Formats: sequence, structure tokens, C-alpha cells
Amino acid sequence: RLKLAILISGRGSNMEALLEAATDPSYPAEPVLVASNRPDAKGLETAASAGIATASVDHKLYGKDRESFERALNAALEKAGTEIIALAGFMRVLTPWFVTRWEGRMINIHPSLLPKYKGLHTHQRAIEAGDAEGGCSVHWVSTGVDEGKVIAQARVPILPGDTEDSLAARVLVEEHKLYPRALAMACEQILAD
Ligand code: GAR
Repeated sequence: RLKLAILISGRGSNMEALLEAATDPSYPAEPVLVASNRPDAKGLETAASAGIATASVDHKLYGKDRESFERALNAALEKAGTEIIALAGFMRVLTPWFVTRWEGRMINIHPSLLPKYKGLHTHQRAIEAGDAEGGCSVHWVSTGVDEGKVIAQARVPILPGDTEDSLAARVLVEEHKLYPRALAMACEQILAD
């Protein structure tokens, strides 16, 4: 089992889906750390109640210096023996220094059908474009934001009258099924190399 660190910034519902999947001893990842750049992230409490070690590395304490924030985060990840990182609603852009350090060992979930709608407000943009479908993607993290190779995607219909919130809720149900499956695929790939 690969030692898994999950990085969050908020609610942590995707993190919960990963922790739940990993309670199966045959799952290829074993959670060793949940870390947040926001000390008040709700998901930190959920992780602690599940008995997982948590760390908070407050990016605000590092001002504009992204790399010094990342060096502190990296130290926590290394101390925990991290072998694979899953970004789960982690809302800080990572510098090439960090991304290169974890290349091939870090994945992200993004709420759109990549390559469509990188960045923010993905559901709003899909609705405004008149798309028939929305969805989510799990991808390897590369230095371009939301640009790494896609591992797996899930689709949902966009219905008449959908709002950003109603579409987000429909996609989130799929995120919780997709992420555990895609993380397992990523682990198998690393273990096979
Ligand atoms: C999820 O919808 C995830 O796809 C999205 O944030 C939400 C986090 O929810 N991620 C991004 O937008 C990444 N740029 P969660 O904290 O409940 O998992």
C-alpha cells in the first residue's frame, strides 16, 4: 500500500470518500496524513475523528513567498513518509518547485471535463456555454494548472434550469465515486513501474 497524503483547503468531502475507500485493507493506498493550507478547514476535524494524522500549514504565515510555504508543507509530507499525494479541493496553485518534486506522484480532482474549463467557476462556465454535459476529471498534476494527463472522468447531464449549485451537487456525487477509483488506478500505475 502506498502511503497517501491528502491535501485540502475546506469541506473535505472528496477526502472523506478517499478515507472511506482506504478502510478496505486491499485498497492500494494507506492514508498517513491530511494536510490543509487553511487551519480552519472543516475536513481537518473529519480526518482527525477518523484517526488520521493532520497538519495545518497556514499559507498566510508565509506572505507572498509561495516556495517557503511549500517547503514547510513538503517537510510535513516527508515526515509522514508520503509516497502519493491526492489534492482534494486544495485551492493553492503549486509552484514548479513543488510540482517537480512530486511529479508522477501527485493527482488532483477538478470539477470539469478537462481540457474544458480549467481554473475556477467551471459549472457556471459550462452552463453559460450551453453544454449538454458537465462532469469531473482526475488528472496527474503537472506544472501547467489543470493540464496534466487525465486518469479518469465522469459525466452528468446539464438539465434545463440548472444553476451553478445544482450542477455542482450533481457532479459532486460523481466525484465521490470517481476519485477513489482513479486514485487506485494511479497507485497501480506507480506500483507497476
Ligand atoms: C470539489 O468539487 C473539487 O472538485 C473542487 O473543489 C471541491 C472541493 O470539495 N476542486 C477544485 O475546484 C480544484 N481547483 P470538497 O472539499 O468537499 O472535496
